[in-house]
Amino acid sequence: MMKDLKPSQIVDELNKYIIGQDNAKKAVAIALRNRWRRMQLDPELQEEIAPKNIILIGSTGIGKTEIARRLANLTDSPFYKVEASKFTEVGYVGRDVESMIRDLVELTVNRLKTKEQERVQEKACQIAEERVLDLLLPPKEKQSLDSNSEFDNSGANTRKKLKTMLQNGKLDSREVELDINDTSSPVIEIFSNAGMEEMGVNMKDMLGNLMPKNTKKRKIKVVDALKIIAQEEAAHLVDMEKVKTDAVHMVEQSGIIFLDEIDKIVGKGNSNNPDVSKEGVQRDLLPIVEGSSVPTKYGIVNTDHILFMASGAFHMSKPSDLIPELQGRFPIRVELHSLGKKEFAQILTTPKNALLLQYIALLRTEGVELSFTDDGVDRIAAIAEEVNNTTENIGARRLHTLMEKLLENILFQAPDVKEKNIEIDAGFVDSQLKDIVENEDLSRYIL
Ligand SMILES: Nc1ncnc2c1ncn2[C@@H]1O[C@H](COP(=O)(O)OP(=O)(O)OP(=O)(O)O)[C@@H](O)[C@H]1O
Ligand SMILES: [Mg+2]
Repeated sequence: MMKDLKPSQIVDELNKYIIGQDNAKKAVAIALRNRWRRMQLDPELQEEIAPKNIILIGSTGIGKTEIARRLANLTDSPFYKVEASKFTEVGYVGRDVESMIRDLVELTVNRLKTKEQERVQEKACQIAEERVLDLLLPPKEKQSLDSNSEFDNSGANTRKKLKTMLQNGKLDSREVELDINDTSSPVIEIFSNAGMEEMGVNMKDMLGNLMPKNTKKRKIKVVDALKIIAQEEAAHLVDMEKVKTDAVHMVEQSGIIFLDEIDKIVGKGNSNNPDVSKEGVQRDLLPIVEGSSVPTKYGIVNTDHILFMASGAFHMSKPSDLIPELQGRFPIRVELHSLGKKEFAQILTTPKNALLLQYIALLRTEGVELSFTDDGVDRIAAIAEEVNNTTENIGARRLHTLMEKLLENILFQAPDVKEKNIEIDAGFVDSQLKDIVENEDLSRYIL
């Protein structure tokens, strides 16, 4: 369920991962809260209030996707990212736009299923233990457990002893015979990828049930048997019907769809596909964004409250070039600013998952203690800005390529180096990168 975070709390959370872009953070926080507000109203009034979707505008690598993804994570919302331009490609026809809803539901079903399976894991393991004990004990002794003679008591004792041994891993390498489902059915794969989804039918399930179940008896080690049985039992223990309804409900109430590259569907005609004009894709998107019912194999999904976030660079066009109806559904617009030296230095060091921390952790696994001086960090940031200016501006993504190059030798030699404390200062940065930066052509290829 959607957590009821206040806009300010959402911004605080986003600040842990994303540097700057305050306007965008504020806007997404408002958009999320507006959905929540709308859901609190009478259905009648809800109808009247159009969903407040959002367009993030800005060049590449400055945090658009990152903001949306973090937002979804922190609210535990079903999240799906799709490139709008995909729908103009050859092979797509109008109503395929609905596939984004089906994909979102599918994703959510899988997520909930995994969660449920984890929840029942302990119980499944207990059942697996018992079943493996059944396999290990000869049938005679097993039956005698039910009656009450002295002899049977020893049967129960054997089982108990065996169980302790099993739990302590003493029986791991013993072998048992197990029926194993042979799930490989290549034919079905081919069928189910042929776009049958639209009918809301799960071909795989249908055919799967028609096909005879192949089970094979195989001798396998106890350790593996425990795992296989536990998995099987976990699958049985999960109430799939509930998972499906929950997933549909979650998608309807708190789903977020991120429509990337929306600027690529602006303008008349000129798409790669003669059958689908860009404007056509916008028209197809409209009902989904406005709220409609989309059939999926897990049930009908109503898109009324799904939050749509669009993003695009809008270099060649403006949001006002979108068809008016669609513009109306994306009333919140924010521009993200491009990133410079100052932001880069912060991105390197301050977020929870900061790039430098990642490298430090990676190298620590080899016993190498990496550290960065302030002037070292500054120098990396400055170089990132410079290369972005002289070649192509790819925003914070530049930091990734820079860091890889900067640490190339250390990453290569880490297991063998004698000096386990390595400090990266401005001098080191220059020694590794200066020549490349000064040669524009070289930078283009390497950084
Ligand atoms: N403001 C920022 N703070 C922290 N990290 C950032 C920021 N901007 C970008 N990054 C990092 O840079 C990478 C690319 O960012 P992101 O995917 O958000 O780009 P984008 O704006 O969606 O670009 P595109 O238009 O190409 O999709 C990510 O790994 C992200 O962590
Ligand atoms: Mg992106």
